[in-house]
Amino acid sequence: MHTIVSGIRPTGNLHVGNYFGAVINFLKLQNEEKCYFFIADWHSLTTAPHPSDIIANDYTILAEYLACGLDPEKCTIYMQSDVHQTLELYLYLNMLAYMGELERTTTFKDKVRLQPDNVNAGLLTYPTLMAADILQHRAWGVPVGKDQEQNMEMARIYAKRFNSTYGVDFFPLPKSLASNGDSAVKIPGLDGSGKMGKSEGNALYLRDDEKTIRKKVMKAVTDAGPQEPHSEMPEVIRNLFTFLEIVSDKETNDFYRAAWDDCSIRYGDLKKQIAEDLNAFIAPIRERIEEYSSDRAYLERVATAGAERARESAEATLREIRSIVGFPPYRG
Ligand code: TRP
Repeated sequence: MHTIVSGIRPTGNLHVGNYFGAVINFLKLQNEEKCYFFIADWHSLTTAPHPSDIIANDYTILAEYLACGLDPEKCTIYMQSDVHQTLELYLYLNMLAYMGELERTTTFKDKVRLQPDNVNAGLLTYPTLMAADILQHRAWGVPVGKDQEQNMEMARIYAKRFNSTYGVDFFPLPKSLASNGDSAVKIPGLDGSGKMGKSEGNALYLRDDEKTIRKKVMKAVTDAGPQEPHSEMPEVIRNLFTFLEIVSDKETNDFYRAAWDDCSIRYGDLKKQIAEDLNAFIAPIRERIEEYSSDRAYLERVATAGAERARESAEATLREIRSIVGFPPYRG
């Protein structure tokens, strides 16, 4: 079994695009590998959240992942800020990280542009903290999106540099696993754009109620309709069919394909169908989100058990690292 680590940003709520991308892949991995999934609340400090928002955001996103089916019996789910061992490794890695390479990171350069008044050292060393998250469990693979490729490359650089500096073969070089593995579908926006996203403003959230989902789907962009049998589908219509593929049964799919092919398709009906089937898919998740969100004691138990397991794994790694770096076991 491989050790897998991934960090979850504690911002915003999960949408259908997240579900069929990252989340579905986590659900698969938890059955196959030894997984550590954590909520990256220390990383969120780089943008100075209000103290009272931190715990709230942690529990919101934890409830949503559990509602989607992340199972604390199968994987370890924890809050980054519960594992202080990460910070010791972060320090060792910072001693091996060069200013130049940190300054060249695109995510750092983006942040400098976005928040010129708060270019803090935490932003600069974001990649070394991320490397510590991963390397503390000596992970083999990390499911991440393409936007994290540079951070992953840096994690590999620091793993390699640590190994060569100390003449050891200690850290495996963590592979990036496409966060949307084989099972994932890229979910388009309903506004004619290629991608569903929070910042695109076109997301269907797992917390949205039935009426909201219906309203959003009914507003989806369409075209004038096929002008002749077996026309090629334009992108906006293909996007609608993508939703049909993920939430509707085969019969329904065949029916609307045929209706497209013989030009009898009515977009209003198609959208109603999509809204109905999306709601059937989302409703149980939404209900579980509500259940988990109102059971703080349960969330607390999950986070506590996760913290204990994650600390145990990190501590075992740190014990060896201290000795490699030249420190004795902790005194006293
Ligand atoms: N940087 C990741 C993101 O923005 C979150 C993250 C932090 C992470 N530490 C990690 C992802 C370690 C994978 C492994 O999405």
